[in-house]
Amino acid sequence: MHTKSLLNRRRALYLGLASFAGAGAVGCGKILSQSQQLQAVYDPKRDFTVTGGASLKERAAAKGLIFGSAARYIDLSSNPEFAASFAKECGMLVPEWELKFGALRPSPKRFDFSQGDGLVEFAQRNNMLFRGHTLVWGQFMPDWFKNTVNGANAEELLINHIKTVAGHYAGKVHSWDVVNEVVDPSHGRADGLAKTPWLEFIGPDYIDLAFRVAREADPKAMLVLNDAGFEYDTREDEGKREARRVYMLKLLERLKSKGTPVQALGIQAHLEGITTGFNPKKLTNFLRDVASLGLKIQITELDVIDQKLPLDINVRDRIVAGVYEDYLSLVLSEPAVIAVLTWGLSDRSTWHSQYNARDDKAAVRPLPLDEQLKRKLAWNAIARAFDKAPKR
Ligand code: XIL
Repeated sequence: MHTKSLLNRRRALYLGLASFAGAGAVGCGKILSQSQQLQAVYDPKRDFTVTGGASLKERAAAKGLIFGSAARYIDLSSNPEFAASFAKECGMLVPEWELKFGALRPSPKRFDFSQGDGLVEFAQRNNMLFRGHTLVWGQFMPDWFKNTVNGANAEELLINHIKTVAGHYAGKVHSWDVVNEVVDPSHGRADGLAKTPWLEFIGPDYIDLAFRVAREADPKAMLVLNDAGFEYDTREDEGKREARRVYMLKLLERLKSKGTPVQALGIQAHLEGITTGFNPKKLTNFLRDVASLGLKIQITELDVIDQKLPLDINVRDRIVAGVYEDYLSLVLSEPAVIAVLTWGLSDRSTWHSQYNARDDKAAVRPLPLDEQLKRKLAWNAIARAFDKAPKR
């Protein structure tokens, strides 16, 4: 990460950093308090200057990369100003909600494609690529799922779901998150797989099955396995997180060796604004290992959580921007990384306002544009990372 600049105690007190309490994390073998962590990541002099006014999608495209973002149909369809910003900055659109199982399946027999179709049209109208998210996941299932699905019918349901959805959008999708969040060593299985209803009812082969059915239903889309939590090691979960990378590699190796048509790993990258448990070397090696299996990599859900950062917007935005630039500079040095998507474009609509709200109730600021759709330092940070990235 960026060279650390330590604040003196007076400045730390002024910024309100020293009052931060909470669990320590591990950095370079030392336990750091949260205020020390903040001092380590906050650099008031760091330069975030950007040359020219080109958009993120243009800067990415200049390097053979794709930049895009997640959005909801309701936001794009009801807010022309937001839609215009989105079309200006993004070369790819991924539905934040509309293609999840629970959103598409109001009842066991019905598929509701209306909002998903609206998003595809928006993407086409604005010359954007479209990502599908997600065909198979253990979360956000409709209420009827629990009472309807069992060991006897799950496989048929999975196959039918993928055939219908991937078939409906065939030819219009750049890449599909075929399965989402499949590895979770904390669930205690020897293979590291997350315990989900699909695993319980079908067994570990549900992953291979999902990819094969998706390939048949949409022969053109890039098929992606999307997962999270590859970034941090802390003393508490070092074993688990290390194992997460290891288990994911093992899973990808297994899938490749049996001819599963998986083409890319999606790395969600919901990053912490305050942490010291980031090990650049481990992440770089992991990306290399994934690439050496012949897989592409997409950064699929990037954002930076500012929940525990100081209230002062100046300080918060600088820390968040620093995390963006450091992370992207690192991952973009791996040539297998072909796309970067943020999980939302503007702070006016982000899942973190619900899932990682601040104790002081201040609005969260994890994304490249502010609530007024103005470019923030985080935008500069992403732009700088694209400008510095090696060409694909
Ligand atoms: C989240 C959406 O942002 C929320 O609005 C929704 O309520 C729940 O899902 N990992 C994923 C995404 O793969 O689908 C999740 O999106 C965020 C975490």
